[in-house]
Amino acid sequence: MTFLETIAKFDRVVRHLSFYFSPRLAIELYSRGRREFIHALSNEQLSKPRYINNGNKATIWGVEFGNRLMNAAGMFKNGIGYDISYMQGAGAFLAGTTTSTPRAGNRKKGILHPFMPYPRSEAALNWMGLPNDSHETVAERIFRIQKKDGCPIGVSVSGAPGSDFDTAMEGIVNGFMLYEKAGVTFAELNESCPNTEEQHDSTNLLDNALISRLEYVRDKYIKQSDKSIPIVVKFSTDTELIQIPSLVSLLIDMGFSGVNFGNTSVNYMKKLVQIHYKEEENFRYFMTHFGGGISGKPLREDSLKLASEAVKIRNNMNLLKEFIIIRTGGIETIEDYNASVEAGVDLMQWFTGYFELFSKHGHDLYKHLFTQK
Ligand SMILES: Cc1cc2nc3c(=O)[nH]c(=O)nc-3n(C[C@H](O)[C@H](O)[C@H](O)COP(=O)(O)O)c2cc1C
Repeated sequence: MTFLETIAKFDRVVRHLSFYFSPRLAIELYSRGRREFIHALSNEQLSKPRYINNGNKATIWGVEFGNRLMNAAGMFKNGIGYDISYMQGAGAFLAGTTTSTPRAGNRKKGILHPFMPYPRSEAALNWMGLPNDSHETVAERIFRIQKKDGCPIGVSVSGAPGSDFDTAMEGIVNGFMLYEKAGVTFAELNESCPNTEEQHDSTNLLDNALISRLEYVRDKYIKQSDKSIPIVVKFSTDTELIQIPSLVSLLIDMGFSGVNFGNTSVNYMKKLVQIHYKEEENFRYFMTHFGGGISGKPLREDSLKLASEAVKIRNNMNLLKEFIIIRTGGIETIEDYNASVEAGVDLMQWFTGYFELFSKHGHDLYKHLFTQK
């Protein structure tokens, strides 16, 4: 067992008792702890793989994915962590979200990158504000990665929050070009970060602003070159089911290569019923003082419904090229994985469930997931 696995096991006990701490103290401890843990995880070195993918391979965009599950955006924001992901047995590696210039992320009440896990609810809240080293720095890092067969690299890209339309869109397209040169297999356009000044209304997604952004990407990137990498668009899990047919048809017609449902929820009152009563005080404190996005089990049902609906719409359309459906939100067990595959979902991403499983099984988490009886 590595030192990090021991820490995670110990923290599993502590975090179940975190409701004994004052909300502010607990959030301060976990915001710092999360940063340090991710830093250590990204740089962790294992002498041999903990799980070798064999039965779950999938070929997507002509590239082999070891299995259909990878980390979600925000976990390895700066593109560090490929080796450990491969050694654990991840189906792919996702870097980002990155922006055109480096961002320090949010700080409030003296807390940098506010984050709080709610283990009894299998959930978390975060208000990070897209801290990252920029497209350019992360693309350079990815270029230097020794890429392994069966573990392709994707990257999540966003416009710089607070900038005008042209600046934001030029930055996004420049990001795609830098990552294309760095050898990534696909990019994800993050249309759904709830933690910056750039809030998108997920109940009315299909507005003119979204259409203009998508048209820009189509005209200035997708149509520009035969070598353009596949672009997937990530929306919130708060997206209304009724919007899926128009959203998916629009993306397919415009030449996008997939959709991801999705990002964290800001539907606090609806999700509050899924928060364990012992964690409610801290949850209310976080949502009142920071806001942020809910992740984990409270998204499980929504992500499956949205992704399944997207599959149905996709399957009824005439496709000129591959269009991939990604499910993110509340994935933690092999049942979640199998339910997604049965619904026709192509790929999955996990974040909150990953850490839940890491605290139980350490680096053997993919092995546990795919080999448990
Ligand atoms: C600490 C944290 C940081 C995140 N950062 C990003 C990000 O930079 N870009 C993004 O698209 N999603 C980000 N997310 C959302 C996740 O990618 C994912 O969509 C969400 O957590 C739901 O998945 P889960 O239920 O497996 O956690 C972040 C989530 C967390 C918990």
